[in-house]
Amino acid sequence: MSISVAQLQEFERVLDPLDPPASPIPCSILGYGEISTVLQIDSAPDLAAKRMPLFASIQAADKYAQDYASYCNRLRSAGLNIPEDTTLSVQGHQGITVLYILQKKLPPHRFCHNLIHTENSEFVAEMAHAIVAELEKVWRFNSENKPGLKLAIDGQLSNWVLLESGELLFIDTSTPLMLENGVEILDPELLLQSAPSFMRWLIRWQFLKDVMNRYYDPRLVYTDLIANLFKEQCSEMVPEWINIINAAISERMDALDMKQIESYYKEDKLIWQLFLGLRRLDRFIKTKILGQRYEFVLPGNIKR
Ligand SMILES: Nc1ncnc2c1ncn2[C@@H]1O[C@H](COP(=O)(O)OP(=O)(O)OP(=O)(O)O)[C@@H](O)[C@H]1O
Ligand SMILES: [Mg+2]
Repeated sequence: MSISVAQLQEFERVLDPLDPPASPIPCSILGYGEISTVLQIDSAPDLAAKRMPLFASIQAADKYAQDYASYCNRLRSAGLNIPEDTTLSVQGHQGITVLYILQKKLPPHRFCHNLIHTENSEFVAEMAHAIVAELEKVWRFNSENKPGLKLAIDGQLSNWVLLESGELLFIDTSTPLMLENGVEILDPELLLQSAPSFMRWLIRWQFLKDVMNRYYDPRLVYTDLIANLFKEQCSEMVPEWINIINAAISERMDALDMKQIESYYKEDKLIWQLFLGLRRLDRFIKTKILGQRYEFVLPGNIKR
């Protein structure tokens, strides 16, 4: 892939997380994650660079990169298409290590959360079938590898890319949640890095288990996927997607219904909005009051 560790180190050194596009090394933002920011560095236009400023040491970043690689390999052996990728870690500010997951950049207009707005209803229904078929591969892999191995997956629309060729790719591999012999591989404290320090105890106590468990549970993953349609202002598609999913899962679990998905969506939206608001507050305190650096890139950047 087309960037060297020296180039990436320099990119990280001069990057201002408050306003990445204003960086002396030009870049743009492809997407915001809870713990990663997806950047396009102009000098490496074939890459989506997922920046993770989470690690206290090089060793911790190396371990994460290994777990990440094994998560991708396992998703591949489950039968999913994962884009070509590599990882590099560089030194961050204030002694941290920043891991970059470098993934082949895919065309934004082919992401499924965009295609539902641009394609006709037959196309979208077929796409829904295809996404469900990919998710079913993960549940099948989990039942075949029981009890040694269990993979989690975040099935949201913005995690799937349907190319013109018909190939469907899964791109959200940067959070390697998986259980080996019942033991979670991902250190939950890493997820907490992006949370305001004054909130960590509450999140640890109230929300962490829930967030970490939901991606193992087919019913919750499908609920989350359909709830996405509300977020995308496409609620008219919900009944058909419910039917498609219910047909796929009918033998294994209770059918999904509209009411339960709506209430899940309302609660989920509230939690993430609250979380983002608190992260903004944390950033304000750190940068404006304490004069410190704030490592995470948040949606709706302060222009300076
Ligand atoms: N390979 C890629 N090519 C182009 N755009 C991408 C690529 N990967 C991610 N993006 C953009 O960034 C968005 C977020 O990416 P991704 O799903 O990997 O992270 P996330 O879910 O936000 O991360 P996190 O696990 O930190 O919560 C995508 O929905 C897409 O818009
Ligand atoms: Mg995602």
